[in-house]
Amino acid sequence: MRKIIEFRNVSFRYEDEQPWVLKNLSFEIYENEWIAIIGHNGSGKSTIAKLLNGLLFPQEGEILIDGKQVNQDTIWDIRKDVGMVFQNPDNQFVGTTVQDDVAFGMENRGFPREDMIKRMEETLSAVGMQDYLLTEPHRLSGGQKQRVAIASVLAISPQVLILDEATAMLDPKGRTEIMQTVTDVQSENELSLITITHDLTEVVQADRVIVMNEGEIWREALPREIFSLKDQLREIGLDVPFITVLADELNQLGVPITQEPLNHEELLEELWTLHSKT
Ligand SMILES: Nc1ncnc2c1ncn2[C@@H]1O[C@H](COP(=O)(O)OP(=O)(O)O)[C@@H](O)[C@H]1O
Ligand SMILES: [Mg+2]
Repeated sequence: MRKIIEFRNVSFRYEDEQPWVLKNLSFEIYENEWIAIIGHNGSGKSTIAKLLNGLLFPQEGEILIDGKQVNQDTIWDIRKDVGMVFQNPDNQFVGTTVQDDVAFGMENRGFPREDMIKRMEETLSAVGMQDYLLTEPHRLSGGQKQRVAIASVLAISPQVLILDEATAMLDPKGRTEIMQTVTDVQSENELSLITITHDLTEVVQADRVIVMNEGEIWREALPREIFSLKDQLREIGLDVPFITVLADELNQLGVPITQEPLNHEELLEELWTLHSKT
């Protein structure tokens, strides 16, 4: 697998003399992988996102995107590779219409005009916003604005898409729809996905989870492995999915559930198997 992102012993702080916000961080992310980053508030997740597209630079260590080191000389290149969507839909609309908004990022990066129109149509269709070309942002719902933000980012064909709590302000339905859109897009393109989130249903779907605690990587593992550490997760201020809690309770009541179910289907499957054995 091709390595797209590499953090090598990265340390970062916002001011000299202040405590380090990220401490000696090393990790790798591969092409087409979906990584969820979780961690308590202030654990350094958004700082990682900002380092990834050169909004900030580390004081120690280095960050490589597709083999290129992120620094002042490469940021414009890097920003073609790394697209980012943040939490607040109102702070990222730059155009006066949906169409302008999607065009803006491409214009900035010097895409040819014919290309722009084609890509605009493609990406807005991919997020289900193709009928809103001339709509002004204030007429859109929060979920629709986030869709446009995602389309704007996808229009520049990034290799990495980072969603930093991008669904946090949406209702559960809007959240599910956005994530469906993103995973559809991901499966059709070579795209590495990094989602920073508190939404556990999102975390269980990721290929791998990085758990941050006080500026350090606490664990890096499969969702199933992470959520088997329930008590330890709670100790560092994190929640665990309802289904894994339910499985634990059943275990304590003498129902021998062996594997760590991550969703309703898996738990049901296991209960049926146990049932058919008795
Ligand atoms: N612009 C800033 N200036 C100074 N400190 C900051 C700034 N942004 C974040 N911090 C601090 O850095 C730490 C990590 O913040 P952040 O990366 O936003 O965490 P998270 O996204 O996990 O909540 C926190 O202690 C936060 O207060
Ligand atoms: Mg944050």
